[in-house]
Amino acid sequence: MITLENLTRAVIGSFEGVPEARRRELLQELVRALHGFARQTGLTHAEWRAAIAFLHRVGAMSNDSRSEFTLLSDVLGLSSLVDLVGSQPGATPGSVLGPFHTAGSTWFDNPADLVRDNTGERVCLEGQVLDTAGRPLPQATLDFWQNADNGLYWQVDPSQPQDNLRCRLRADDQGRYRIITIRPQPYCIPTDGPVWFDVVEPAGRTAWRPAHFHLIVEAPGHHSLITELFDEEDPHLATDAVFGVRDALVGRYVPGADGLPTMHVDFKLAAA
Ligand code: BEZ
Ligand code: FE
Repeated sequence: MITLENLTRAVIGSFEGVPEARRRELLQELVRALHGFARQTGLTHAEWRAAIAFLHRVGAMSNDSRSEFTLLSDVLGLSSLVDLVGSQPGATPGSVLGPFHTAGSTWFDNPADLVRDNTGERVCLEGQVLDTAGRPLPQATLDFWQNADNGLYWQVDPSQPQDNLRCRLRADDQGRYRIITIRPQPYCIPTDGPVWFDVVEPAGRTAWRPAHFHLIVEAPGHHSLITELFDEEDPHLATDAVFGVRDALVGRYVPGADGLPTMHVDFKLAAA
């Protein structure tokens, strides 16, 4: 018979038959953590029901181009924790994917110019993709996205063309990349959904994220890197709503050869 004392053991044991070891471990440790939480806090039936209703609202707000579930993970620091746990020694650290990555960006020639009709300060992001020993990775690819001068991503701003300020590109034979774009702006995480109303706002926390570029950098035989680059002049670096800032990801714009403010960042990928 089930009792308060043996329930957790019984549920963990019920997953013993999951054939795949990693899946079994994840399910059993999830049960252990959830039960530990409910036991420690004395979670009430009303609180449990409210949490389920909250998750329903989070699901109702999520779709292919906007994931309120990802946002929930971000504001709880879980996304950052996963990135840091998975960061490879000697490689560029990871940082949050965020809710605005959409797969399948258009391939641009390298150097890429994304400015088009965007207002804002023209800047350049450039550098090299390297292995952890500093050797160039000429087969690297970069998936890039950022917000527009009004702080918004195209998915939430009907005034922007679809796919504004995002691209994929291939590094050159020295692993080099160069993207001409506009300086991204500090940005508020979405404040129109349950994550804001039920989690972030009641804590008196800020909605601001410091300005950033997003990149996914990949090369054959190497761990993929999902990361962000921040602007050292940004006033929100210390209070990022989603805990994404790492020292190694803060860059500085300096005048480039062509006069454009240029942020130079090399990415290091670890061998898989
Ligand atoms: C972003 O980078 O745009 C973002 C990341 C996490 C939550 C919300 C927005
Ligand atoms: Fe972002």
